Amino acid sequence: MVKAIRVYENGGPEVLKWEDVEVGEPKEGEIRVRNKAVGLNFIDVYYRKGIYKTTLPYTPGHEAVGVVTAVGPRLTGWKVGDIVAIAGNWLSCYSEEHIIPASSAVYVPPSIDPIVAASVLIKGMTAQFLVRRCFKVEPGHTVLVHAAAGGVGSLLCQWASSLGATVIGTVSTEKKVAQAVEDGCHHVIIYTQEDFVTSVDKITSGSGVNVVYDSVGKDTFQGSLACLKPRGYMISFGQSSGTPDPVPLSALAAKSLFLTRPSLRWYNATRDELVECANEVFAKVESGALRVHVNHTYPLSHAAQAHADLEARKTSGSVVLIPDTA
Ligand SMILES: NC(=O)c1ccc[n+]([C@@H]2O[C@H](COP(=O)([O-])OP(=O)(O)OC[C@H]3O[C@@H](n4cnc5c(N)ncnc54)[C@H](OP(=O)(O)O)[C@@H]3O)[C@@H](O)[C@H]2O)c1
Repeated sequence: MVKAIRVYENGGPEVLKWEDVEVGEPKEGEIRVRNKAVGLNFIDVYYRKGIYKTTLPYTPGHEAVGVVTAVGPRLTGWKVGDIVAIAGNWLSCYSEEHIIPASSAVYVPPSIDPIVAASVLIKGMTAQFLVRRCFKVEPGHTVLVHAAAGGVGSLLCQWASSLGATVIGTVSTEKKVAQAVEDGCHHVIIYTQEDFVTSVDKITSGSGVNVVYDSVGKDTFQGSLACLKPRGYMISFGQSSGTPDPVPLSALAAKSLFLTRPSLRWYNATRDELVECANEVFAKVESGALRVHVNHTYPLSHAAQAHADLEARKTSGSVVLIPDTA
């Protein structure tokens, strides 16, 4: 028996229950991993609330780093003692030990601390596909990143800035401004105090931005469209404030805009894409080109408090949950 968080019904953070679970032995194609660190991601909130569906009961969590404790029959390429990460389309990470499909795991370079790896993999791979594949950021572009001091936002700003773009970031509080500047934002807008559309208009002298990376959704979507240049790209990749209202095609026709609602799972749809993307993120961490702010750690058993703080916009950078057995 090990401890894990279990969810029996959708709802607030209180539905996250800390319980004993049976782990068992890995079957063909699987490995068993004792977790050292578990990444907290906003998607965990969507699943808990039932915005994204899964079968109940379930163990939440899409991102964890740990040590392999058993390898399924006939599986090659993995051994007990390997340090591996799982990040993506798989639930069960909020556990001391769990069984995962080996095809979804990647090796973690020994130079990267497991806590750092668990804080950066999903968020860094998201930043990678957003700036390198979904819309290719180039020198001379002006980009708008909402929630710039958040987990993904922090890495997205660093990456876009390193590609030569002028980065405009939005944050909710004065306290989050310094990190956004440190992460390469040339302009920071406190969107709870100023109208970000007016501020972007001023910053760009009325010409608008090439691309908006909008993970906030409902509260920012319409304003984001207004910030775009003609033929600009609206990338709506999350909904931390709620699902945006439906968009009539006429809203895009006004400036010949592009609109996409991308998902990491479709940009890392094959094993090759996953490994390439993960390795690129790890290489950037190793070289110091990506700096990860692990600003908050909680015991895994306190996941409910971590969820409450993430939803209350009290966090910045990455949040990591640590099992007692790590
Ligand atoms: N499409 C994909 O494949 C993909 C992959 C990974 C993540 N995502 C999305 O990226 C976003 C960021 O994820 P993350 O895990 O790094 O979280 P995060 O950015 O660390 O946390 C969410 C942030 O959103 C901002 N926010 C604005 N309005 C909010 C509201 N009403 N309630 C809560 N937060 C609000 C807050 O920043 P301020 O306080 O500065 O406003 C908050 O800190 C999420 O929307 C997530 O779904 C998408």
